[in-house]
Amino acid sequence: MRVLTGINTTGTLHLGNYCGAIRPCVQASKRDDVESFFFMADLHALIKCHDPDRIEKSRMQIAASWLACGLDPERVTFYRQSDIPEIPLLNWMLNCVCSKGLMNRAHAYKAFLEANQDAGEDPDAGVSMGLFCYPVLMAADILMFNADRVPVGRDQIQHLEMARDMATRFNNMYGRGKEFFVLPFEQIDENVEILPGLDGRKMSKSYNNVIPLFDGGEKALREAIGRIVTDSKLPGEPKDPQSTSLTRIYEAFATREEYDAFCQELRDGLGWGEAKKKLIDKINGEIGPMREKYEYYVSHPAELEAILLAGAAKARKIASPFIEELRHAVGLRSFTMLRNEEAKAEVKTTAKPLGVVKQYRETDGLFYFKITEGAETLLTSVGFESGRDAGMAVGKLKAQGLADTNNVVLSAGVTIEQVNAVLSAMRAADEEKKKAKAAKK
Ligand code: TRP
Repeated sequence: MRVLTGINTTGTLHLGNYCGAIRPCVQASKRDDVESFFFMADLHALIKCHDPDRIEKSRMQIAASWLACGLDPERVTFYRQSDIPEIPLLNWMLNCVCSKGLMNRAHAYKAFLEANQDAGEDPDAGVSMGLFCYPVLMAADILMFNADRVPVGRDQIQHLEMARDMATRFNNMYGRGKEFFVLPFEQIDENVEILPGLDGRKMSKSYNNVIPLFDGGEKALREAIGRIVTDSKLPGEPKDPQSTSLTRIYEAFATREEYDAFCQELRDGLGWGEAKKKLIDKINGEIGPMREKYEYYVSHPAELEAILLAGAAKARKIASPFIEELRHAVGLRSFTMLRNEEAKAEVKTTAKPLGVVKQYRETDGLFYFKITEGAETLLTSVGFESGRDAGMAVGKLKAQGLADTNNVVLSAGVTIEQVNAVLSAMRAADEEKKKAKAAKK
């Protein structure tokens, strides 16, 4: 099982990123049955951020953060997106099979249009092609390594749907029965609760309610926690633990028992100031040792660089042969592979057809047909009274494709679209044969 995820490098990380993404990903990467790919989405970062210094700083801080949080670069494949030139090439290939209409429907892009419209602006004001094509680059990130599972937030589900759409189109268009890409699915961890920010809303830079993970050191952590919103009950007064995000943040770093005890203390009158101190200690217990490692990497950039270059080399061991295969599939081949037309026709006519229609009679005396692809049966017809009726149904199917399942039963897991892809490949193969014959004459 291959797991892959990326983090945009436009800013610094906060505790929400840590609890929601980094910590569970690092945990999961220790399992023996998963192969993990983690990367800095620094090409994506250029979409939102045109400040080179900020880009430079952010990608370094985020790389240092992953390592500080316990990611083992020997065990996983850890790299910067922009160090893998195969990704933008795949991005282009996917651009050329992805319909513009699909991108028009992207939630993020539509939200932009609506905001512009509400502001009385041109609908596309401030929309770069990078933003518009964001999901294509993301699909390239994922499909380049044929990831099965992609840990993301709910806001990214549509991007995964789009990646599957592009993968399917590419497979159908160029695959000739071969699946270049496996279909990737989002992995949304139900056990990881979304961490609330200082004001109780989801912790997010856009709400300006975050607690920084490492940035600003322990001082910044203290300051942020000092700003967590609580009511104005005094020490000694009983407090409702659910009245503030403080307890939910505490919960994310504590055991069940510690959390229950903390809530009880609040009900018994623990002051908010004391409670905040306890929260700081709790977080520091986990993050403190990591902060030291973080500071180390940030002050030893050459070491960090070496780790990431080694990660890129590891990633390219997979990406480079795969992109060669894809280049070949789309026709970007060495000239030495050019054959004369006749030889090509020869190869095509002898190539094994993708699907086969078989007609037969059953012991019930009725006439049937089925479509097979290799060893797999895609569909079986209902029984027909005569061979002629069965033959006519086959003829119609071959000429027009499968419109409904009135006369046929699809095998488990087979879709009408899949059958039609096979039928149209068969039609194309028949055409080629006809042409080749005519050319010989
Ligand atoms: N779009 C993702 C986000 O905003 C970041 C990202 C870029 C990503 N490429 C990816 C996530 C590939 C998973 C896989 O969170």
